[in-house]
Amino acid sequence: MCGIVGYIGEKQATTLLVDGLKRLEYRGYDSAGVSLMNGNGLETRKAKGKIAMLEQAIASDPIKGKIGIAHTRWATHGPPNECNAHPHHDCKGKISVVHNGIIENYGPLRAMLQKTGHVFVSETDTEVLAHLIEAAFDGNLEDAVVDALALVEGTYGIAVLSADDPDKIVAARKGSPLLIGIGEGENYVASDVAAILAHTREVVYLDDGEMAVLTRDGYSVCDLYQQTVKKGVSRIDWDLDQIEKGGFDHFMLKEIMEQPQTITNTMRGRLVTEEGFSKLGGLNLSMEELQNLDQIIITACGTSWHSALIGELMIEEHARIRCEVEYASEFRYRNPIVTDKTLCVVISQSGETADTLAAMREAKRRGARTLGLVNQVGSTIAREDDGGIYLHAGPEIGVASTKAFTSQVIALALLTLKLGRLRNMSVVQGRDIAQAMEALPAQIQSILDRASEVETIAEAFSDATNFLYLGRGYNFPVALEGALKLKEISYIHAEGYPAAEMKHGPIALIDADMPVVFIAPHDSVFEKVVSNVQEVKARGGRVIAITSREEPSLAGKIDYEFRIPETIDMLNPVLAAIPLQLLAYYIAAKRGLNVDQPRNLAKSVTVE
Ligand code: AGP
Repeated sequence: MCGIVGYIGEKQATTLLVDGLKRLEYRGYDSAGVSLMNGNGLETRKAKGKIAMLEQAIASDPIKGKIGIAHTRWATHGPPNECNAHPHHDCKGKISVVHNGIIENYGPLRAMLQKTGHVFVSETDTEVLAHLIEAAFDGNLEDAVVDALALVEGTYGIAVLSADDPDKIVAARKGSPLLIGIGEGENYVASDVAAILAHTREVVYLDDGEMAVLTRDGYSVCDLYQQTVKKGVSRIDWDLDQIEKGGFDHFMLKEIMEQPQTITNTMRGRLVTEEGFSKLGGLNLSMEELQNLDQIIITACGTSWHSALIGELMIEEHARIRCEVEYASEFRYRNPIVTDKTLCVVISQSGETADTLAAMREAKRRGARTLGLVNQVGSTIAREDDGGIYLHAGPEIGVASTKAFTSQVIALALLTLKLGRLRNMSVVQGRDIAQAMEALPAQIQSILDRASEVETIAEAFSDATNFLYLGRGYNFPVALEGALKLKEISYIHAEGYPAAEMKHGPIALIDADMPVVFIAPHDSVFEKVVSNVQEVKARGGRVIAITSREEPSLAGKIDYEFRIPETIDMLNPVLAAIPLQLLAYYIAAKRGLNVDQPRNLAKSVTVE
């Protein structure tokens, strides 16, 4: 939710740190701050609002230094304001801390510290860390950090400076992502590689329970017993321009338009069309284990939960394995039935969603094998799962997930092929699915080439106050996803519903002011959808239909139509989602809203 970046080296760090924050702004953005060692101690600037406000604060009162830490905040404790912005300090202003996560026992810790004379200035949980470190400090910063963290319950990714132990940055993580960037005579710490990619491609990902000490000349990693931990160095192979807008008005539109390429990347090297199966190298499950699976649980949040619902239908229809989908936030506190023949598939674009990570850990504790469908390489879920399928969709910056969703559906289709062909799916059936998958990139491109048709529809509805999205079968999760896209970036209330369920209550909402989007490609349940369209029209509703062919049965019943190419039922969601992504985008853009950074939202929800 928040962004962290730190630097220690020979360069002036102020601009470098602020530029790093700008690359993280999508992660959380209600205030920001920076602390630097200025040669005489610590100096800090903070500001409420966007990072540009912090830049103004620094311009009016400059600070310099070659060692520093910086932070962009998404508030969890204490409203967004300058006082609650990070970095936070101890009583004497000798220690500076930036933090991503939640200190769950900050209340009793704060009371204990206040009893011993510590004075707090903010309403945040984070400030407790600065005072704990101060209380434990005896000349060595990492020793004090270890002692402080021993008292902490909750999650953290932190970076810490001390004016009395000045030539180092101490970093530690538990539950929130953190990595080290390795330079020549300089080193970095960041919550996301985007913050430092302009400076280095060599990174070390910290794992939970690890602490790092960075100096100009190097770094060391240890556990919280200060036992050295050997860490591998990863090389980042994507470029900064992949996280720039590439000429589009918003990251979201860029990412929608990238989908022919991104789903190609998800399939690359994994489809064996002639034999009708898939090659998935990272499952870490033997053929026997795959054949012995007797249930699959898919757990996720938000958009990833919608793709999970599609995966459930795919797996049960084509691989004939019992499959259920669980909200990660529910699964982690339930008492689910899990055995060693259970595969828990965990879907997460960021690989850092707290609820999803916790659900995976719970499934592991209960003996399930876990499989991560993750986009962010090196993320926590990707490093803790037993096996995985990387989406290879490239960094997704827009808070509203688009290309990750379609790549998740493709990854689930690849998994379905793999499992189905180990059971009763024939080579012909497998080949049909594989060939339909290979046709998707061109089909998506043909939809994107007609984006202006969707923009025209959006113009007619940019003042709507409510929307209903209806679909059946594979298209019901698409209805949920279309509704989520619209509500999270346009702030228009929208609901997704199974088309037939509309009769059991929501039909009372239908009138001329309630646009109803039907996801109605010609599939095995199309005829049933027609009757639902008639029910809506009979009550004066305005109908937008996503269809896949000329439909005489719909003649005169739909007000706006957008046609998508035909494909097999299980892959319709990949195509039907595209016009719905565009519809949400154009409506939000016409309403003049911040499409990439909608209010109240963050790209990765790393708190409960
Ligand atoms: C989707 O547009 C939202 N940004 C949100 O629902 C997101 O899908 C959810 O928070 C899960 O994120 P993850 O895939 O990174 O775990």
